[in-house]
Amino acid sequence: MTAEIIDGRAISKEIREGVKEEIAGFVRSGLRPPALAVILVGSDPASQVYVRNKKKACHKLGITSIEHLLDAAVSEKELLALIGKLNKDPNVDGILVQLPLPGKLHEASILDHVDPRKDVDGFHPINVGRLVANTEGLRPCTPAGIVELLKRTGEGLVGKKVIVLGRSNIVGKPTATMLLHESCTVTVCHSKTRGLKDICLRGDILVAALGQPRFVTADMVKEGAIVVDVGINRREERICGDVDFDNVKEVAGYITPVPGGVGPMTIGMLMVNTLKAYKMAR
Ligand code: GUN
Repeated sequence: MTAEIIDGRAISKEIREGVKEEIAGFVRSGLRPPALAVILVGSDPASQVYVRNKKKACHKLGITSIEHLLDAAVSEKELLALIGKLNKDPNVDGILVQLPLPGKLHEASILDHVDPRKDVDGFHPINVGRLVANTEGLRPCTPAGIVELLKRTGEGLVGKKVIVLGRSNIVGKPTATMLLHESCTVTVCHSKTRGLKDICLRGDILVAALGQPRFVTADMVKEGAIVVDVGINRREERICGDVDFDNVKEVAGYITPVPGGVGPMTIGMLMVNTLKAYKMAR
C-alpha cells in the first residue's frame, strides 16, 4: 500500500481563502480589518522564519500585522508592560508571543498576562481550561490544524485508536484532548513510555510530535493507519519530520509530508483564530 498524501498546503489555502472573504465582507461594511500583534524576543533563526511567515499570511488575507521585535536582553517587566498595552488597545484583536522565549524569561507568567480574549495561540490557562472542559474558547493552532487534516481524510474519527507521541503543552497534550472530544480513544506516549513500538502498532491514527528526526519507522505503523508528522527538524540544510516518510508511506493509509503538511495548517488556524477574536470583540 502507498499512502495518500494529505496536502496541508492546499487545505490551509482553502481555509485562508474563506477567512479572506469574510474579512473583505467586514471591511466592505465599513469596519476596520482584524489586527494581529506578534512579539518576537531575541533572534532565534527558526522563530524569525515563523514570524515572517505569519506576517506574510496576514498581509495576504487583509489582516493588519503589528510586529514587536524585542532584544533578547529585554526585562520581564518591559515585556509584561508591552503585553498590557496591547491587551488594552481596542485596535488589536490577537496577541501572539513567539516561543521559545530566551531562558531568563518566565514563559508561564508571560503567557498568563495575555488577555484570554486576544490569546490567538490558545496558551492562556483560561483557554487551556476551556479546551479541557470542551467549552467555547480559542484553541491552539497546531492541534486545531491536525484535527482539521484528520477530519478531511473523510475516515471518521469516532472510536479511532489514536497514539500521540509527545506530551508538550503546545502540541501533544492539546491534540490528545481535542481528539478525545472527537470520541477517539487516545494514548499519549513520551520519552519514558515502555513498549512504545507495540503501542504505536495499535494506532489507527499516529501523531508524531516529539522532535526527533525520522523517529517513527515503518515497523511501528499499522497497515493503513493515518500518520500525522508534526516534526520540523533541520538536518544538513534540509527539513525533515519525526517520521521516516519514504518508508512509512509504504505502510500507512494516509500521511502528512514535511514540509507541506501540518506546518501550513498552523498558520491557517492562526488566521482563523485572529478572525474569531475579532468577531468575539464585537
Ligand atoms: N513556537 C512553536 N510553535 C509555536 C506556536 O504555535 N505558537 C507560538 N507562539 N510559538 C510557537
